[in-house]
Amino acid sequence: MTIRFDGQVAIVTGAGGGLGREHALSLAARGAKVVVNDLGGARDGSGGSATAAEAVVAEIEAAGGEAMANAASVTDFVAVQAMVDAAMAKWGRVDLLVNNAGVLRDRTFAKMEIEDFRFVVDVHLMGAVNCTKAVWEIMRGQNYGRIVMTTSSSGLYGNFGQSNYGAAKMALVGLMQTLAIEGGKNDIRVNCLAPTAHTRMTEDLGAALPLEALAPELVTPGLLYLLSRDAPSRCILAAGAGGFERAYVTLTEGVHISGEDAPEQVAAQFDAISDRAKEIVPEMGAAQGMIELTKAQKAHAS
Ligand SMILES: NC(=O)c1ccc[n+]([C@@H]2O[C@H](COP(=O)([O-])OP(=O)(O)OC[C@H]3O[C@@H](n4cnc5c(N)ncnc54)[C@H](O)[C@@H]3O)[C@@H](O)[C@H]2O)c1
Repeated sequence: MTIRFDGQVAIVTGAGGGLGREHALSLAARGAKVVVNDLGGARDGSGGSATAAEAVVAEIEAAGGEAMANAASVTDFVAVQAMVDAAMAKWGRVDLLVNNAGVLRDRTFAKMEIEDFRFVVDVHLMGAVNCTKAVWEIMRGQNYGRIVMTTSSSGLYGNFGQSNYGAAKMALVGLMQTLAIEGGKNDIRVNCLAPTAHTRMTEDLGAALPLEALAPELVTPGLLYLLSRDAPSRCILAAGAGGFERAYVTLTEGVHISGEDAPEQVAAQFDAISDRAKEIVPEMGAAQGMIELTKAQKAHAS
């Protein structure tokens, strides 16, 4: 079935360029009214101007769509709240939130200033928290919402020089895990997208592939599915160059260990602890404790 967003209102942060622009254009082309948010600053988050967001709104309008520009920094909760208020005043609802705004301040951990760590966490993590908080009650009231956090392979798997960025991106996975659980009863579905695309954020990486192979528009189909009525929830979808994969946070079956020499047994049985043959994806954090208690009870009974 064709994925459409007619009658729905979307907010896309950091939509003045790169992936966010592509997301905003595609949402509008499929019927959504779109708040195009972008601070319009440099890649490291310095500066700011509404021009980038306004240019994307002009593109949407030229194609017959509806959009409004917003230049709030996602780090400013008051400005984010005003952005959501403006969307509500104009269109009366918010159905879709794409937390996409982001910055880079790469350095090895040895050379990184605490301020650059804090700033990157503030934009990615607290920016997503601010925007999500500002729409959460609206979505609960509507009994409908779709939220996507933009995570990264750097957070999921690590990347040299990106301890700040990776930590912030993995924090978004943690945020998703709990919000998907809490939002479930109001049909608020929360997912993560881990993109790979050639944008100004990745322009220094030197493309081993032709640039068009990593075009942002090849990521957007994954986003549109995560925003659709039939979206999954609590999913980490990876996307780039037309490839789509899923990442999971898993738990191995493990072993039960007790006794004086427990540390040595942990060492001796580390291969068994690490064995992935029977690993699961727990439905919530409490599952770990339940599994451990079950193993303890079995060990005591035998
Ligand atoms: N390009 C990739 O391969 C890749 C990989 C993994 C994750 N990501 C993530 O995808 C998202 C989009 O990145 P991109 O590659 O399109 O880069 P980009 O630099 O083109 O886009 C990021 C946008 O966010 C805006 N922004 C920055 N700080 C903001 C703030 N405080 N408030 C509002 N807007 C702000 C910027 O002005 C910019 O337009 C980011 O979250 C990024 O971390 C990108």
